[in-house]
Amino acid sequence: MSPLPGSTLGVEEIPREVFRERRNQVLRLLEEWGGGVLILAPPVGGGSPSLRASWTGTRKELFYLTGWTGKGAVLFLRGGLEGPSFVMAVPPRDPREERWDGPRPDPAEVAQEVGAEEVFPTTELERRIPFLLGKGRWVFYRLGSGAEKMDRLVLDELARSRTRLSRKAGSLRGVVDPGELLDELRLRKDPWEQEALRRAADLGVRAFREALARVRPGVGEWEVEAWLEAAFRIGGASGPAFPTIAAGGANACVLHYSANASRLGEGDLLLLDGGPEVGLYSGDLTRTVPVGGHFTPTQRAVYEVVLAAREAALGAVRPGNRVAAVHEACLKELIRGLRHLKVLKGSTFRAIVDRAYEPFFPHQTSHWLGLEVHDPGDYEKDGKPRELEPGMVLTVEPGLYFPPDLPAAPPELRGLGVRVEDMVLVTPDGREVRSADLPTAPEEVERLVGAG
Ligand code: GLY
Ligand code: MN
Ligand code: MN
Repeated sequence: MSPLPGSTLGVEEIPREVFRERRNQVLRLLEEWGGGVLILAPPVGGGSPSLRASWTGTRKELFYLTGWTGKGAVLFLRGGLEGPSFVMAVPPRDPREERWDGPRPDPAEVAQEVGAEEVFPTTELERRIPFLLGKGRWVFYRLGSGAEKMDRLVLDELARSRTRLSRKAGSLRGVVDPGELLDELRLRKDPWEQEALRRAADLGVRAFREALARVRPGVGEWEVEAWLEAAFRIGGASGPAFPTIAAGGANACVLHYSANASRLGEGDLLLLDGGPEVGLYSGDLTRTVPVGGHFTPTQRAVYEVVLAAREAALGAVRPGNRVAAVHEACLKELIRGLRHLKVLKGSTFRAIVDRAYEPFFPHQTSHWLGLEVHDPGDYEKDGKPRELEPGMVLTVEPGLYFPPDLPAAPPELRGLGVRVEDMVLVTPDGREVRSADLPTAPEEVERLVGAG
C-alpha cells in the first residue's frame, strides 16, 4: 500500500483484515437499512500546498475503510444488494498529469492493494453510477462537500428514480450523510487506532519538551510554533493536526488564536496548544508555562485551579460514567477556584445553573479525538448524555481565561489565560492519560522552560 506521508505508523503495518472488518460492519448496517450504497468521494485536488487540508473529513473516512491514501479515489460499499460490495474508482493513468503530480497506480494495482472486487477509472463514473446505485434504497453520501461532479451524478440518479413513478422496492428513497453509519464506529478505537493515537501523544510530548526548552523572554510566538512543528515533522508526523496556538500573555484569552505574531514578555504566560498528525491520527495537547521560568503568585493561583479541575475531570473518565460528568467534575473545581480567586460568589449549584463560570471558561472540557482533532460522534445518545466505553479517546482540557476587557474579573487577573490539555484513552478499569509524560505540576512546568 502507498506509505502515509512522513508517517510513523505506516499503513503497511496494519493488517488488511482490520480494514475488511470495518467494511463488514458498514455492510451489515447497510443491510439493516434495507439495502444501500455508501459513497465516499473526497473533493478533487489536494496537491501539495493544500495536501494537509485535504487529509480531512471524507478522505480520512476513505482511509478508515480501505487503508488507501491515494488522491482522488472514490469508494462504493454496497450492502444488501446484488453484485459487488466493495468497488473503487481512481483517477486514470495520464502521463501529462503524472509529470506534475507523480505516478498513479493502475486500477488493477489498486484493486490488488486494497482487496476491492472492482476498481475502475473515475472517467467511467457517469456510466457506472446507475448500476452501482442499482436497487439501493438509500445512498449514504455527503452532498455539498466539494465533490461537485459526484453531487451531480447522485442528484441525477435520485431524480431518475423519482420519475420511475412508483415507490416499489428498488427505488432510491433518499440521501443520508455517511456519518450516520461511520461516526458511531469511529467512536470506539480499535487497537490499531489506539496505537496511532499513542504515537501521536508520544511525539506530541517530545515536541512540546523541545519547543518549551527554547522558550525565553523575547522569542516570538511564531518561533515557538516553528520549533514545535519542526519537531513534529522531524519525528515523522505529516504535520500539525491543526493550526498551532502559541499564545503569549493576553493572546491566550483568544481561544483559537493562531496569528502567533507577538513576542513573549518576561512576565507572560505562554499557552501552547498543538498536536502532530501521525498515521493520519491527530494529537492535541496544551501546556501553559511562565515565559521567565517562574509563575508569579497570581499566575500560580490561577494555574493551580486549572490543575485541580484537571485532576477532578480525569478522575471522572471511566467506563459507564457520562461525558457530561467529566465536564461537571471540571466545572465544580473551576467554580470552587473562582470563588477562592474572588471572581465568583454563592453556591456551586447556582453558578452552574446560572452559567456564571462561562465568561471565564466558555468551552467544553472534552471532545473526541481520532482521525480528526474534533472527531465526530454524538455526545448524547437517545436524548441522554452518552456513557464512556473502553476504547474511546477524548481530550480533557480545563482552562480559565480573563480577557483584559472583562470587567467581571479582578484587575490583577485580567490578561491571564491558562489551559492544560491531555489525550485520554478510556480503559476497562478507568483511563490512561496518554500525555502523562508531559509535566503539569507547577515546579516541573517551570523547569520545562528554557531548559534547552
Ligand atoms: N486545539 C483545539 C482544541 O483544543 O480543541
Ligand atoms: Mn482539544
Ligand atoms: Mn488543543
